[in-house]
Amino acid sequence: MEKSLPQQILELKKKHHAVILAHNYQSPQIQDIADFVGDSLDLSLKAMKTDAEIIVFCGVDFMAESAKILNPEKTVILPDKTANCPMAEMVDAESLGWLKKEHPGAEVVAYINTTADVKALADICCTSANGVKIVKSRKAKKIIFVPDRNLGLFIQKQAPEKEMILWPGICRTHHDIKKEDIILLKKKHPHAEVLVHPECQPEIIELADFAFSTNGMVTHAKTSPVKEFIIGTEKGLCYRLEKENPDKKFYPVSSAVCPNMKKTTLEKVLKSMETLKPKINLSDDLMQKARIPLQRMIDMERGEKK
Ligand code: 13P
Ligand code: SF4
Repeated sequence: MEKSLPQQILELKKKHHAVILAHNYQSPQIQDIADFVGDSLDLSLKAMKTDAEIIVFCGVDFMAESAKILNPEKTVILPDKTANCPMAEMVDAESLGWLKKEHPGAEVVAYINTTADVKALADICCTSANGVKIVKSRKAKKIIFVPDRNLGLFIQKQAPEKEMILWPGICRTHHDIKKEDIILLKKKHPHAEVLVHPECQPEIIELADFAFSTNGMVTHAKTSPVKEFIIGTEKGLCYRLEKENPDKKFYPVSSAVCPNMKKTTLEKVLKSMETLKPKINLSDDLMQKARIPLQRMIDMERGEKK
């Protein structure tokens, strides 16, 4: 009898001493074969902790690139090399360089959803889980924040002491969540709490009970006595939420899908583990430069404030 795809993947994982990391938005089949499922911050921390020689990253390119930058000696594989984050591509190094020149005293905080050459120009990186803490920790009053304007506005509200210069990037998946989507779900499920991602527009965040990173939503749903939740982020997160909280109900915004996150399939994971391709390849010089802001964020998370 032919072995199932998950069985074949598991065998290759053992053979290559590999670890499979999957983002919370991945499809159920991928989440089920992963060693760890998490948000961008959690997965960066996991990538640094693992002693596996090969990291198979089921997510989008900036996540796999970050894993490679933090572990240059390891092989990092992205099963579908076209799985990108369109928002990360909304800011380029040349334009950011011009903006830095216009604001010489400002520090640059780059959302982890950026390319390696944009990270190379940043003072520190952040994710949606730690953006407020990171911005507040910087010495400069003026902060250039790239690329997500909605996350930048969310941080600015909680860090009024800072003067934030925001890049006009957006995530279509989150930006397109409409007030009416949430209002309709609230009408249908009046006892549900509303959890949204800070990449949503400010008017959506205002309607919500809480704005969290995807892992923040997982922790909140687990620890809250509330039994029903409206989930304002990519709807793939609901699979993990349901799996870990079988006694609770989760209502997604049905249109909230990130097509790039859904490009990873079991077939592609298997093929990538047979061929050890496509690999993330970045020049040593670029990795060295991009590692500085990423490492500063990781060190802050580990309490070794720099
Ligand atoms: P999280 O870090 O909250 O998982 O978000 C990643 C992302 O790409 C949101 O769209
Ligand atoms: Fe990028 Fe948005 Fe997809 Fe997240 S959901 S990976 S920000 S396009």
